[in-house]
Formats: sequence, structure tokens, C-alpha cells
Amino acid sequence: MRHIVVTGGAGFIGSHCCVELLEAGDQVTILDNFCNSKPETLDRIAEIIGKRPDLVELDLCDEQATEQFFATHTVDAVIHFAGLKAVGESCQIPLTYYHNNLTGTLNLLRSMGAHGCKRLVFSSSATVYGMNNTAPFTEDMPTSATNPYGWTKQMIEQILMDTAASDPEWSFVALRYFNPIGAHPSGLIGEDPNGIPNNLVPYIAKVACGQLAHLNVFGNDYDTPDGTGVRDYIHVVDLAKGHLCALDYAETAAGFCAVNLGTGNGASVLEVLHAYEEACGKTLPYVIAPRRAGDIATSYADPSKAKTLLRWEAKSDLLTMCKDSWNFTLKHQ
Ligand code: NAD
Ligand code: UFG
Repeated sequence: MRHIVVTGGAGFIGSHCCVELLEAGDQVTILDNFCNSKPETLDRIAEIIGKRPDLVELDLCDEQATEQFFATHTVDAVIHFAGLKAVGESCQIPLTYYHNNLTGTLNLLRSMGAHGCKRLVFSSSATVYGMNNTAPFTEDMPTSATNPYGWTKQMIEQILMDTAASDPEWSFVALRYFNPIGAHPSGLIGEDPNGIPNNLVPYIAKVACGQLAHLNVFGNDYDTPDGTGVRDYIHVVDLAKGHLCALDYAETAAGFCAVNLGTGNGASVLEVLHAYEEACGKTLPYVIAPRRAGDIATSYADPSKAKTLLRWEAKSDLLTMCKDSWNFTLKHQ
């Protein structure tokens, strides 16, 4: 049985990944400080799968606590989700973002290396493709960032590359997620942000259950089929499964590699809205609002590297993603 450590395992994507790992028979330990999640999520994971992940509540920025963990546990590999992720907030409190995401990662890598655990799957983001590439995005395109959050992803990828170059025993897979949405089909775990959501589908979910009056569509004058922004939405369960494929790959290959996790299909804001209307059986009001600063017109993956290298591809369609989001929303509103 492999022992997999999941940093940020109580969060949205991490919790779905823990379900998949436990289902595959792995021993799972979550390291999380619950700065953006709740301990109850572990109860929900146990309810879904009949097994409970172990938990060590710690902040990865606490160097001693992180070191103490790796000094006292034998770990086969780490999946590193822990990080702050709100783009707008990262512009308001950049030092908090750089400290949390970079210091946490550096502490983690130092302790892993010191105790002979040299395999890591990292949550990167399609945000590293920046503003100047044209979709579909391939992993060999130049990367950049437009906000502090994005820079942390870009910088961590560089740290992983340099670490791999310094020591051939390390194996890193950076997974560049496109737009994860949906929830576990049980409706027990999903995404439930505090306050007014920034992201499209959590916002639409709140309109659908009457907590927000209408969706603001940020721009309808983009160079896209209906003028609204196009993104590659991927079911969070598909995404979670991709991490197990990345772990398997990391067992066979040393060095650093970056891999897109997306469907390869773009959907516009209005297409997502209409799919959600079908999922919830209601007409959802929207107004056209100005473009949001920093948004690009079109983002979607070339998913072929994941298919050949990881033997993984996304399965769910947009309607299924919206139905699972709505099922979760109904249980948690
Ligand atoms: P999330 O906020 O739901 O989960 C992150 C988890 O990490 C939370 O449980 C939080 O408490 C924990 N955490 C944060 N800082 C920590 C620290 N210093 N020590 C210990 N625990 C800490 O976010 P998510 O949506 O599940 O995203 C997971 C990862 O994927 C993040 O790194 C995020 O940047 C990346 N990502 C997310 C998206 C997305 O749209 N959700 C897209 C691309 C990349
Ligand atoms: N949008 C609206 N109204 C809203 C929210 C969003 O019209 O209320 C539009 C946006 O303009 C964009 C699309 O819906 O065209 C998707 O926006 P999201 O905020 O849901 O997602 P982004 O593509 O902007 O960014 C997300 C994460 C980033 C991550 C990126 C790629 O927030 O952290 O996906 O993975 F980097």
C-alpha cells in the first residue's frame, strides 16, 4: 500500500482526490491548516468511501512542524494542493500570497528531500499561459503571469525544474488545471466559497438558488462565437483522477514535466449559463457587464500530452458538470 500525503486535502480539488486515492487502496494523510476549508470535509470523504484519511493539522509555512512530520512518517509521494488561489485577493495582499504559496512549498520540498521522499505532483494552473498565447495551449508554449497568484504558480514550476536539475532522484509532475467545476456525484463534497463567488459556476449556483439576483456576464464583445469568454471547464472528479495517473507516471520517470488537465473543448459564459439552466430546470437572469480586468477571450487545453504520457482523458460533459454542481448546491444552500 502506498502512503500518499495530500497537502490541502480538505479543499475543493484535494478532497475529491482523496476519495480517488482511498478508493484505489492508498493510505492517505492530509496536511491542511483549514485556512480555506473545514475539518467536516473528512467526515464527508469517509461517508463517500467508507474509509477516513489521516489528518495532521499543520501550516506548511511552519518549517518545524513540516520537518517534524516528514521526520516521523514514511511517505511514498506527495500531492501538493495547499495554496491560496483567489486572483483578485492576490493583487490586494501579494505578500501573503507569495509567503503562503512559496514558503509553504519550499518548506515542503526541503523536508521531503531531507527524508528521502522525492516524488511530487503539483497543482499548477492554466494561468501560466498568460495573455499572449493562442488556444489550444500546449505545454511547450512560453509561460508568464499577470497577477501575484499566477506568479506563484510560475515561480513554483521554476523551483521544481531547478530542483529536478540539481538531483536526478526527484520526480515532479506539474498539472496545469484548466477550469475545474462540478462536485462529487454524491453531493457530499464540492465547492462552497465564502462570500460572493469570483468564479463563474459558483456564482451561477447562487443565482440558481436565489441568493444572488443575476449573473454579470463580463463582456460580450470578445472575439468568440457569441462574444463572451471561452474556457475549458473540467469535472473535478475527472481532474482528481488525473492525479492518480500522474502519480503512476512519476513512479516511472524522473525529472520535471508539466501536463495540461483539460477537456480540449471551450465553452462560452452563455453556454455554461444555458447548461446550468437545463441542469436546474430554471431560467437564470443575467446582465451584460463590462469586461473583467485581466481576462482573456479564449482559454482551452491541448490535452494530448496527458493522453499519451499519463494515459488520462476527461470524460464528463458540461451538462453533467452542471448537474453535479446543482446537486451539491441543493444539499448545501
Ligand atoms: P482550496 O482553497 O479549496 O484548497 C486549498 C487547501 O489548501 C485548503 O484546504 C486550505 O485550507 C489549504 N491550505 C492553504 N494554504 C495552506 C498552508 N500554508 N498550509 C496548509 N494548508 C494550506 O483550493 P482548490 O480549488 O482545491 O485548489 C487546490 C490547488 O489547485 C491550489 O493550489 C490552487 O491554486 C490550484 N488550482 C485551482 C484551480 C481552481 O479553479 N480551483 C485552478 C487552477 C489551479
Ligand atoms: N465570468 C463572468 N461572470 C462572473 C464570473 C466569471 O462572466 O461572475 C466569466 C469570466 O469573465 C471568464 C469565465 O466566466 O470568461 C470564467 O471565469 P472564472 O473566474 O470562473 O475562471 P477564470 O478562467 O477567470 O480563472 C480560473 C481560476 C484561476 C485559474 C484559471 C485557469 O480562477 O485561478 O481558471 O485554471 F488560473
